[in-house]
Formats: sequence, C-alpha cells, structure tokens
Amino acid sequence: MSHRIGIIGGDGIGPEVLAAALDVVDATGVDYERIDYDLGGTRFLATGEILPDSVLDELRGLDAILLGAVGTPAVAPGILERGLLLKMRFALDLYVNHRPFLAGPSTLNDGVDMVVVRENTEGTYAGEGGFLRKDTPHEIATQGSVNTRMGVERCVRYAFDLARGRAAKQLHLVHKTNVLTFAGDLWQRTFDVVAAEYPDVTTGYDHVDAACIHFVQRPEKYDVIITDNLFGDILTDLGGAIGGGIGRAASGNLNPARTGPSLFEPVHGSAPDIAGTGAADPRAAIISAGMMLEFLGETAAAKRVHEVIASSDDVSGTTAEIGTQIAERI
Ligand code: NAI
Ligand code: MG
Repeated sequence: MSHRIGIIGGDGIGPEVLAAALDVVDATGVDYERIDYDLGGTRFLATGEILPDSVLDELRGLDAILLGAVGTPAVAPGILERGLLLKMRFALDLYVNHRPFLAGPSTLNDGVDMVVVRENTEGTYAGEGGFLRKDTPHEIATQGSVNTRMGVERCVRYAFDLARGRAAKQLHLVHKTNVLTFAGDLWQRTFDVVAAEYPDVTTGYDHVDAACIHFVQRPEKYDVIITDNLFGDILTDLGGAIGGGIGRAASGNLNPARTGPSLFEPVHGSAPDIAGTGAADPRAAIISAGMMLEFLGETAAAKRVHEVIASSDDVSGTTAEIGTQIAERI
C-alpha cells in the first residue's frame, strides 16, 4: 500500500537534509506518494501566511509528515513556533514527542541507548496565561501549566508500552515533584497507577535537575524517560549533545491513537549559518525518516535504515554526498 507523505522542507538547511533523507527512503523501495508543502519563514515573508486552515485540513488526510526545519533570521522568534510547529502539534493532537538518543563509537558516550518521551500538547506550552497592565510599571505576566489526567495518562501509557518492548524494560519519571507539588502530584499518581499494570517494567523517579547531572555523568543508567513538555524540551537538547550531537538528534511528534498523521523531524533548526554550503549533516533527518517508516509499519525498511546509520561513522562529504552514500548502502 502506498503511503501518502507530506513533505515540509521549510527554510535554510531544512530542504537540503530532507532531500538526502528522501534519497534514503527511496533506496528502501517503500512505496509512497510525495506531497510537497511550501511552509515556513520564506513563505511567511512572501505572503504573510503561516499555516492556512485549508492546508491544515489537507495535512489531516495524510499518513505521515516529514519536516526539515523552519525559521529565517528575518522572522521574529515565536511566530513560526506558535503559528506553525505548535499549531500542528495541537491541531493534529501529536501528544507524544519521541526522541531517541543513540551514541555511537565516535562519541563520548558510546553505548548510550535511551528514549525520552516528552508530553507534547500540555504543560507550559498550552498557552495559558496573559498580561495585565502590559507596558506599565505594574505589568504582570502569567504563564500557567496545564496538566490533564487524560493527557498525562496517555503519554505515560505510551512510555510503558515502549519500555516493555525494549531489552532493559526500564522507565523513569522525570519531574520536579518536590516543588511543583500540584502538577508533580498528578504526574506521580498517574505514573504509579499505570505502573501497576506493567509489573515487568522496572520503574524509577528523578527530579529534573538531578536527571541533568545523570545525563552528563552516567547516561547509561537510563532506558526510557517520561517527562512533561518543558522539562522534555530542555532535557532532549542535553540528550542530543551527549548522544552523538545535533546532527543525529531525531524526533517523532506522534499521534499514537492514529486519529491523524504523525510528524517526524530532526531536532535541529534551519541553521542559517551553514545553509547552502553543504555542511549540514543529514543524519538527524534520515533517522527521523527511519522512525517514520517504523511508525508506518515498514519494519524491515526502518530496521535497515537504522542499521546503516549505526555504522555510518566513516561516511563524510557534503549533505547530498552523505545522503547518496547512505542510500547506496541501503
Ligand atoms: P539550529 O539548530 O538551526 O543551529 C544551531 C547550531 O547547530 C548552528 O551552529 C548550526 O550550524 C548547527 N547545526 C544545526 N543542524 C546541523 C546539522 N544538521 N549539521 C551540522 N550542524 C548543524 O538552531 P538555531 O541557530 O538556534 O536556530 C536557527 C533557526 O532555526 C531559527 O530561526 C530557529 O527559530 C529555527 N529552529 C527551528 C526548529 C524547527 O524547525 N523545529 C528547531 C530549532 C530552531
Ligand atoms: Mg528544544
């Protein structure tokens, strides 16, 4: 069956790394229909449009979306994040952000193999809050954290299912339950209730600040981590830095209930400093495409992509050359 895949190249190195990733997908022989979408900073500057509702409706009908990166120096921070990236996460209910960290022989932490499951539609990113008396000396800004039992539980369940399928079968909750006593309490109770259904999974808990120390000093202690939106955002950048660098950090914004497409993207941005030079490492985009194939049920193709990437330390050259060489090995 042919998969209908939406391609959002975006800006800067986004289209460059996606071209390499699609070379690799093509090499697997998986049958798919490619539907290109012109979205991102360049389109916004030219037309004032970020994500028209008609485009969002089209995206809903796809099987998956592959995104390069969006952002250009001429667009103020926040516009594309809220108007495009977060809008797709909320509108398509991409409630799990799945970020694997695999450190190969060329990195400091050879052998590290962990996944951070980040709640992706609630917490401080839900947009609750506002200003009072803005631009006066008595200005107040509030930014609330939204934590629903349903939203937390569906992510916790995803993380337990994931841990159950892995060799180490271990899951840590990471939060700040000692200070964020309301949200933390909801997370801890939900985690404990669901844990009772998974007696085969070993569980643990770390405060987020302690987890930062462990990430640097003994990351091998972790298998799967479940955490909230903000902690997950920060922790996964640290994970990227210890797990082979930004050129290998991949992610899936998942709708595990499969009420619509899931979206796969490298963690890095559009890197305007190297755009057009061929210096971008396409591996993060290729790993993201491999995760997409896995989620689409193309298990053998996904396995092959991950195997080739794992032994690709000797591959070098421009973005396109790396893509071609990895595609040839597939
Ligand atoms: P960035 O990730 O684009 O770049 C940070 C540094 O990492 C730069 O020095 C860059 O050259 C390097 N880098 C990034 N990806 C690389 C790769 N594949 N290979 C080799 N080096 C790589 O983050 P930055 O500079 O903070 O943001 C640049 C633009 O990207 C901004 O407009 C920002 O808003 C946007 N952005 C978009 C994201 C997305 O689309 N999901 C995520 C993060 C940033
Ligand atoms: Mg981030």
